[in-house]
Amino acid sequence: MLFASTLLSAALLMLASVTALPQHEEGGLMGRQSSCPSGSFRANTTACAPCPAGNTCSGGRNRPDPCDTGLYQPNTGSTSCLRTPPGFFTNRRGSAMPTPCPAGSYQPYSRQAFCYGAPRGRFQQQTGKSFVCATCCGWATTMNNNNVNPVKCGGAAPFAWPNSGDGCISRPTSCTPAATCAQAANGTCHSNFSFTAGQTIRG
Ligand SMILES: *[C@@H]1O[C@H](CO)[C@@H](O)[C@H](O)[C@H]1NC(C)=O
Ligand SMILES: *[C@@H]1O[C@H](CO)[C@@H](O)[C@H](O)[C@H]1NC(C)=O
Ligand SMILES: *[C@@H]1O[C@H](CO)[C@@H](O)[C@H](O)[C@H]1NC(C)=O
Repeated sequence: MLFASTLLSAALLMLASVTALPQHEEGGLMGRQSSCPSGSFRANTTACAPCPAGNTCSGGRNRPDPCDTGLYQPNTGSTSCLRTPPGFFTNRRGSAMPTPCPAGSYQPYSRQAFCYGAPRGRFQQQTGKSFVCATCCGWATTMNNNNVNPVKCGGAAPFAWPNSGDGCISRPTSCTPAATCAQAANGTCHSNFSFTAGQTIRG
């Protein structure tokens, strides 16, 4: 206790002598004032402020460090960033929130800055998904990429194989055309045709 109070007196003495230094002197009082706890940064000469969302702060005299692309941080006062989950992307540094993949795209991996487009024969009707659905028997996609909705084959070409990216055909197939090919409200794909991370085709 005696030792501690002696130390304190010594520190106060030092502080008093340092106060006499010009305010702008390098390594002087300014340097000491600049030390902030981790999760905060020096906002000005008198205050530390909580680290802004989208950034990490290691404290001391360091400035906020923006989260890299593929990472984000919704909270203030943080020392680490979070990984963008599958189905989302973060393409800007310093992001507070990840962005859901738009309909017609998907992202099976975490920490990504983009989404893959649903390739031919595959589609994704919902946002924020990590997988694509394959077209059902009798349905096809119309585009090579970014397919949101499959189209039902009809007229002179009412047939198509499941997972058809080659459009509709007039020749009958061995499968029975499905009445609907919509995704369920919960995002699961129709019937047996869904493709998850290990099975996806990168668009
Ligand atoms: C210093 O920063 C704090 C925290 O952001 C703020 O509340 C205060 O008004 C600022 N003071 C000056 C002098 O700018
Ligand atoms: C999603 O919805 C479909 C159709 O309503 C249902 O068959 C399936 O079990 C649901 N899956 C989950 C994971 O809730
Ligand atoms: C899904 O696959 C099973 C077994 O392969 C099959 O019996 C069933 O008819 C299929 N369901 C649809 C909707 O295609």
